[in-house]
Amino acid sequence: MLKRLLITTSALIITAATAVGCGSSGGDQTVLGFSQVGAESGWRTANTKSIQDAAAAAGIQLKFADAQQKQENQIKAIRTFIQQRVDVIAFSPVVASGWDTVLKEAKDAKIPVILTDRAVDSADTSLYVTFLGSDFVEEGRRAANWLVDATKNSTDTVNIAELQGTTGSAPATDRKKGFQEVIGADPKFKIIASQTAEFTRAKGKEVMQAFLAAHRDINVLYAHNDDMALGAIQAIEEAGLKPGKDIKIISIDGTRDAFQAMADGKINVVVECNPLLGPKLMEITKEVVAGHPTPKRIVTDEGVYTQDQAAAALPTRTY
Ligand code: AHR
Repeated sequence: MLKRLLITTSALIITAATAVGCGSSGGDQTVLGFSQVGAESGWRTANTKSIQDAAAAAGIQLKFADAQQKQENQIKAIRTFIQQRVDVIAFSPVVASGWDTVLKEAKDAKIPVILTDRAVDSADTSLYVTFLGSDFVEEGRRAANWLVDATKNSTDTVNIAELQGTTGSAPATDRKKGFQEVIGADPKFKIIASQTAEFTRAKGKEVMQAFLAAHRDINVLYAHNDDMALGAIQAIEEAGLKPGKDIKIISIDGTRDAFQAMADGKINVVVECNPLLGPKLMEITKEVVAGHPTPKRIVTDEGVYTQDQAAAALPTRTY
């Protein structure tokens, strides 16, 4: 299936964005300050490229800051953008909590903020104009729905190991919640091990090694992203087991590496999470600068892919 960047909008609340002047440099070009989480995964690399390419194509000046997975770096970057008087600030919050003070500073400076990819848990939703990204709870549900269907003809206990994303991040919290919501309906599903591996391949391998040392009866691995699943595959193979067979693997993202692992029979299912947010982000930035109303939540359209679709889909995966 062709990679899509169809965006569906759910206009939960319509917010009139504040019209702002153009260009911190005093020129006509719109200036967008963007604070990225880091470079922890293949998904993130694709997301960064999408934003950089889309800014160049849209004629928007991008001030890009990499926070290296640290909230304090993101807060510093946002404060710098405020001092520089950028037109719009966008960021992907590494964790969901702790943003109210800096977002209030941006609001007081009349600089609109767009959340991309990850949400914040601020009660005051006037602190940002809109959220653009995935429904992570739904991704967790989709992962669990596959498992329910794959085990529907058996009442045997299903022992699940879970590799969680960054603690306190929206995708880790929501993917756990959505998955739990579905498997919680049947007591045969048991999560026997669950720990963060910080969305990285290296940690995915390390934590899976520890899981395997403590439990020889893992039937299923649920990884909150592809990089952790791919790291875990190495640990499973080194332990003399067959990923995808001895331990079924459910992953989230849909990177080319994960599709290759599916085509090789090592991952059983991938729930897609679309990183190609750049073009839509630039479109929203322009709308906000023009003072046009923006939907409060813009959710990307995503699919679920199984092994039988992997080989055919591989050539069209763009990340
Ligand atoms: O926030 C999106 C998540 O962050 C992706 O699933 C993961 O790969 C990334 O690190």
